[in-house]
Amino acid sequence: MRDLLLIIFGFVNKILLVFKLRIIKVNHRFNRHGNAVPDYVRFATLQLLAHEINENGVEGSAAELGVYRGDFAKHINAALPDRTLFLFDTFEGFDKRDLTHDIKNKFSDDSVNFIDTSVDKVMKQMPFPDKCQIIKGYFPDSLGCISQKDDITYALISIDADLYQPIYEGLCYFYPRLSEGGYIIVHDYHCTKFRGAKEAVQEFARNYSVKYVPVADAEGSIVIVKP
Ligand SMILES: C[S@@+](CC[C@H](N)C(=O)[O-])C[C@H]1O[C@@H](n2cnc3c(N)ncnc32)[C@H](O)[C@@H]1O
Repeated sequence: MRDLLLIIFGFVNKILLVFKLRIIKVNHRFNRHGNAVPDYVRFATLQLLAHEINENGVEGSAAELGVYRGDFAKHINAALPDRTLFLFDTFEGFDKRDLTHDIKNKFSDDSVNFIDTSVDKVMKQMPFPDKCQIIKGYFPDSLGCISQKDDITYALISIDADLYQPIYEGLCYFYPRLSEGGYIIVHDYHCTKFRGAKEAVQEFARNYSVKYVPVADAEGSIVIVKP
């Protein structure tokens, strides 16, 4: 099955090249020996969710909160090429306020910071940059940049901000704006390095009676669907 997926993906990449689109590499994670291993489940889950959204005519934009270098965002952009993709990030790494909270609560440590990126780097990765809107700054304060367009609805959102506060705030902002049949993917739910992700999802789910489904990708994402 894995070999078949590899062949299909290689074939799709070749077609994209023929049409002069940039080649899209599969997201990589690292195994305990430090070797890059592709996170096929994460990638394939996104493909299936995008397929459902298109087939069911779910309306709305796409978004990612926690973009870093755009390695997952480029797949969202490719999977939903006709939709606006809002890209929320400081593009300068974690904010001290969020990090201090997670360190204090023993959810995380300060061993990574995701500083080494830029808007330019991210935009160069996007297969359809015209559909992307960068929302740079500390989330949720950065929402001020799109408050004029507060009638935005979303069909698919990836929340991959690692820390408790942006993930909880992200769920509070996006869930009410999620279209019926739309999805929120929260990365790192089962990640032991970023325990704030699970805390944020569980608290949000308790407070707003929201259900979610686990995904068997490398960091154990969860998917919320709007009934
Ligand atoms: C793990 S990285 C994202 C990885 C990316 N989604 C991928 O799959 O390649 C986490 C990102 O969340 C961003 N982030 C965390 N807290 C944030 C906040 N409060 N506001 C804006 N961005 C934030 C960081 O700057 C960092 O780039």
